Order: sequence, then C-alpha cells, then structure tokens
Amino acid sequence: MSKRHVATIAARAGIAQDTAFSAVTPPLYLTSTYELAAFKQPGQYDYSRSNNPTRDLLGETLAELEGGVKAIVTSTGMSACLLALQLLTPDDTLVIPHDCYGGSYRLFTNLAQRKNAFKLLVVNFQQAGWAEQISKAAPKMIWLETPSNPLLQITDVRAVCQLAKKLQALVVVDNTFLSPVLQQPLALGADIVVHSTTKYINGHSDIVGGVLVCNSVQLGDELKWWANCLGITGAPFDSYMTLRGLRTLEPRIRLQQDNAARVVDFLAKQPLVAKVYYPGLPQHPGHAIAKAQQSGFGAMCSFDLAADAALLPVFFSALRLFTLAQSLGGIESLICHPGTMTHASMDAKAQQTAGIGPTLIRLSVGIENSDDLLADLLQAFNAVAQASRQADKAANIGTAVKPDHEQQQQFRVNPALSAFW
Ligand SMILES: Cc1ncc(COP(=O)(O)O)c(C=O)c1O
Repeated sequence: MSKRHVATIAARAGIAQDTAFSAVTPPLYLTSTYELAAFKQPGQYDYSRSNNPTRDLLGETLAELEGGVKAIVTSTGMSACLLALQLLTPDDTLVIPHDCYGGSYRLFTNLAQRKNAFKLLVVNFQQAGWAEQISKAAPKMIWLETPSNPLLQITDVRAVCQLAKKLQALVVVDNTFLSPVLQQPLALGADIVVHSTTKYINGHSDIVGGVLVCNSVQLGDELKWWANCLGITGAPFDSYMTLRGLRTLEPRIRLQQDNAARVVDFLAKQPLVAKVYYPGLPQHPGHAIAKAQQSGFGAMCSFDLAADAALLPVFFSALRLFTLAQSLGGIESLICHPGTMTHASMDAKAQQTAGIGPTLIRLSVGIENSDDLLADLLQAFNAVAQASRQADKAANIGTAVKPDHEQQQQFRVNPALSAFW
C-alpha cells in the first residue's frame, strides 16, 4: 500500500489487529510482568517498565505519524525532554531558544547550573547572528520549539538543521504545539521529535504523557535503554487513553484550527487587544516560514490585553467557555496567563527577554461552536471596558482605582505553587 495519510494512520491505530479474539479495538495490557515459556526462555515481553504491548502500539503509531523509525513513550512531556538530555555529557553544549516552554527552560537551566550536566547556550533565533553564535559554541544538541510557547515565534527548522549537519549536532524539535498533522520536523531534517502527548496527541486533558520519536534506530535504541534504566516509560493505561484520543487527532486539529482562525480575526479587531500573536497573520514575522514548513497555523494564539494588568481578573472571571487553566491542546477551550502560570518558573528577567509581558494571555482554542466562543470573549471584553470606565470615574473623583480586592487575591499566584509549574 502507498504511504498512508496522517488521518488514516491515526484513525486505524491498533484497529482489527487482535490475534487472540479478533477484537476491533486493541486490548489494554495492564500486566506488570509476563510468564516465561520455560526456564531461560523469555517471551517477547518480560516486564512492563521495559516493554508493554499497549505502550508499544502507541509508540509504533506515533513513529509512523512523525515519519520516524522508533518512538519511546514516556510518563510525561518533561520526562521525554529529560530522556533526550541523556545524550549529553558535561563537556557538551546544548543550545536552547530563549522563549521555550517554562518547564523545559527550568529543566535545561537547572541541569546545567546545578548539576553541570552540560553547558548551555540560550539563543534568540529571531535575531540575526544566531548561526554565528551557534557555530562558535560547536554544540552537541540544538533544541527547537516552533511555534514557541507562548509567543508563537517560528524558527526555520530546515535552516537550523543544515547548520547542525555541518556542526555534527543533533536537532531536537518540540512539536507539541502543532502535532504531526501540521508539522513533521524529521522530514525537515531534525533527528528527534518531542511531544507532550498530554496536549493535542491525547486531546482530552485526561492523562499526562510524552514521547520521543527518532530518525535512526541507533538513537532510538540508546534512548529506549535510558528510558528503561531511568524508569520513565509511560503507563499502559495512559497509553491506552492516548491511543483512543489519537484516533481523532486529525479532525480535532482541523476543527480547532478553524475556530482559532475565527478567534484570531475577532481579536485583531478588538479595541482592548494591543497585539495578537498567531503565525497565520500575514504580519507575523514568522508567517512565510510557517507557511513553508507547516501545513496549517494551529489552534494556539496569544494576545496582549490593552488594559491595566489589574483588570486581568475581571476578564478571566467573566469568561464562561474559556477555562482558566494550565495546559493546551484538549477539545475544550482554555485560557492562561503565561507570566504567572505556564512560565512562572522563568524569572522576571528571563520572561522579559522572552517577551512575556504582564498582560499577555494565551488561548488554546477548542472544538466548541465558534459563534459561542466569540460571544464569550466579547462579553469578557465588555466587562473589562466597564470596569475600566468605573476605575477612570473613581480616579476622577479621587477614590481608589484598585479593582475588586477579592478578585485580585484570586488572581495572585501562590509563589510556593508556581515552583511546580
Ligand atoms: C511545548 C511543551 N513542551 C513540553 C511540555 C511538558 O509536558 P508535560 O506537561 O506533559 O510534562 C509542555 C507542557 O505544557 C509544553 O507546552
């Protein structure tokens, strides 16, 4: 059969392959261990930390979707990142982008600074001179996240991979924001793809998981060895759930993307929006590259609210359909404030350098009816406009301008908790 389309690979994951009872949907193997045929005669499987049929099925499907040769399914997206870093030694240099997911940034910086696990070079891929900067450092690994979280900046994967080949460096691409439906980094020259499968791959916000997909058996074997050694392989139940979610990946993404396009169009016309970040906008600096290396612009967007940051609680609490929560990529629409939520583990200077301002808001657009989503946003903007007028009036007559105290308290993040995000 000719090469199958992404939608077909996803929809048919494990379907009608059961050899025991001809079950259409593949079974879930919850067992932790497997009986040997006889003394010194192990079967294909022996212990589920190392191998599990349900997890293997997910890995094989994800490898096919990304056009890779081997996938290692891990317990979370962060453990997938940690796994890739096992390829580095203290003398190696890792290049990371200055505006990646806050949890990845925390992992890279803490392993480099507190464990001397590798040397670190933080690069702004949006500024001229990045290639010279990287060449000078002669890195062993270059980490990319494109589009980036939360500003949707685009990096030219092909250009970075060409440079990496000359430098004999590995390129790892975090493809969480798009999924293989919209971008396939291995085909652009990358060596390893990372996903937080918690997001679009599973798509229902009911598990956490991760995966590394490799372009070579050698890399895959090395990483699989480390995953077993570290004990960070994914749970069979989570793999089963992820397979179930994965089967609808393509139609979900298409619908979410269509909704996101409407939301972006709406935001761009809002007087209370200072700037919209979405690679599908022709004025986005990465628009042309996104068009060349992606097959769609995705369902994530961010914007700066054109109001005092003190009015953010008014906006968030007025929303009924956009749930204020961490994470992204589920079928439900979510909203978050990166500065105090997903990127709270970046210090103020790192946030400023990355361009994460105090009124930056990130949306993960879901599959709800888009008219309802726009109506929800509109009434929240109206609530902010009204609160702003009231504050101006209070200022004019000399009373306090502060927004409702309770709302402010609700919005403030507990610093002890933010360390875990
Ligand atoms: C781009 C990106 N990479 C990696 C991760 C980490 O994944 P997980 O939360 O599944 O550990 C996240 C989580 O938000 C993410 O957004």
